[in-house]
Amino acid sequence: MRITTQCENKKLMSTITFPAVRPGSAAESLADKIRSKSARVGVVGLGYVGLPLAVEYAGAGYHVTGIDISDAKVDRFNSGDSYVGDVPSSTLAPLVTGGRLEATADFSVIRDLDTIDICVPTPLRETKVPDMSYIVAACEEIVKYFHPGMLVILESTTYPGTTDELVLPMLEKSGLKVGEDFFLCFSPERVDPGNPKYQTKNIPKVVGGTTPACTELGRLFYSQALETVVPVSSTQVAEMVKLLENTFRMINIGLVNEMAIMCDGMGINVWEVIQAAATKPFGFMPFYPGPGLGGHCIPIDPFYLSWKTKQAGIEARFIELAGYINGQMPHFVVNKVQNALNDVAKPLKGSKIHIYGMSYKRDIDDVRESPAFDIVHLLQKRGASVSYSDPHVSEVRLEDGSVLHENAAAMATADCVVIVTDHSDFDYKALLAEANLIVDTRNALKNFQSGKIVRL
Ligand SMILES: NC(=O)c1ccc[n+]([C@@H]2O[C@H](COP(=O)([O-])OP(=O)(O)OC[C@H]3O[C@@H](n4cnc5c(N)ncnc54)[C@H](O)[C@@H]3O)[C@@H](O)[C@H]2O)c1
Repeated sequence: MRITTQCENKKLMSTITFPAVRPGSAAESLADKIRSKSARVGVVGLGYVGLPLAVEYAGAGYHVTGIDISDAKVDRFNSGDSYVGDVPSSTLAPLVTGGRLEATADFSVIRDLDTIDICVPTPLRETKVPDMSYIVAACEEIVKYFHPGMLVILESTTYPGTTDELVLPMLEKSGLKVGEDFFLCFSPERVDPGNPKYQTKNIPKVVGGTTPACTELGRLFYSQALETVVPVSSTQVAEMVKLLENTFRMINIGLVNEMAIMCDGMGINVWEVIQAAATKPFGFMPFYPGPGLGGHCIPIDPFYLSWKTKQAGIEARFIELAGYINGQMPHFVVNKVQNALNDVAKPLKGSKIHIYGMSYKRDIDDVRESPAFDIVHLLQKRGASVSYSDPHVSEVRLEDGSVLHENAAAMATADCVVIVTDHSDFDYKALLAEANLIVDTRNALKNFQSGKIVRL
């Protein structure tokens, strides 16, 4: 018998039908535990993605165990001290002290768990090849303690095929059969750190399983804690959804960065162009140029896709081109700095340059892949000395291993300030009053007019 699933008082955004889970089956027993909140929930990887997810499950009434290889994170987590900006300690701490939430570095707790979300990193190697070692390491631990009736959901962003081609064979080494003894899904994580409107709870959750019973259990589980669940027909579709979203963003940013370079060459203000184009009520979506891509997703994920398609003999040309243009932006910014200094008869070599904002985007502390690093490196290579301000980042380790400490006071004596990240708690009025020259890569000074400002 096939039934269309209904999700009690939650929005279900799909008309996909699922087979009813057989009474007495492992699926039925797990579904009962999920509905009654007696399922023991596990989250592997307690970073920007895993910690907020663990908090949502605990808030929904489950007992949640987070597993992380970092003892420092486990200790902070267990003392209710949140290290993820979007989750205040005042939310984490009561869940920990109330006994709903705990963390450990000991994977043997998996013996007692019914569900596991895997939220470990998926970086790129130097050669732009996916680094699957974190997923493999997590699965090697999971399979040691694997038991019938478990639901495993991979959330780490990855290439299409990972769940069924890499994770499934590892879990099947246990001798258990997917769709009958255990259940496997992929669900892309869409968290947008620093976004006050959309967070883990209200971002629609796409989920696709290896079998229809897997998808149904994934849908049922997420719908207990999150507002909207979007089931899709396979793990590959779910994996590709994330890559479409991030590739869409990366390519549009590449396009608008190229527009910025073209406008610069023609003496046109690209920001004004975008603002006016955005008044079109249909068929246009504004993207903004900047100093280059940053973060754990947009600069990396599209290359997971292009790597995979290469295996099938398909070239992902849009991705390669946008990657090239976006990768040129730090060079473009440094050239702007050099030209701006030339205009005031100062050579870049020997100048003091102050970076305003090190994190990869506004109002967060995450510096992963931040274009600020490339800009610092290029400036130093051309003989400038570099300092920085960032209320969210007290120190950074540069490529050469040296450590740069925040030094906000250096702004006033710098020959040029480069706005790389437009944090909302920066005092732009004071900056304009004190700085000698400003290269603004974010249009943060859009409301100011001054001969000191050089816009991207
Ligand atoms: N940060 C984001 O904004 C974001 C958004 C969407 C998707 N993602 C994706 O989600 C995944 C996780 O990203 P993140 O930003 O949370 O990373 P993160 O580095 O903040 O957290 C990952 C955590 O996993 C832990 N870890 C590493 N190997 C482990 C292992 N074998 N077992 C247990 N724990 C392990 C690390 O110690 C770390 O705490 C990545 O695939 C990323 O691409 C991230």
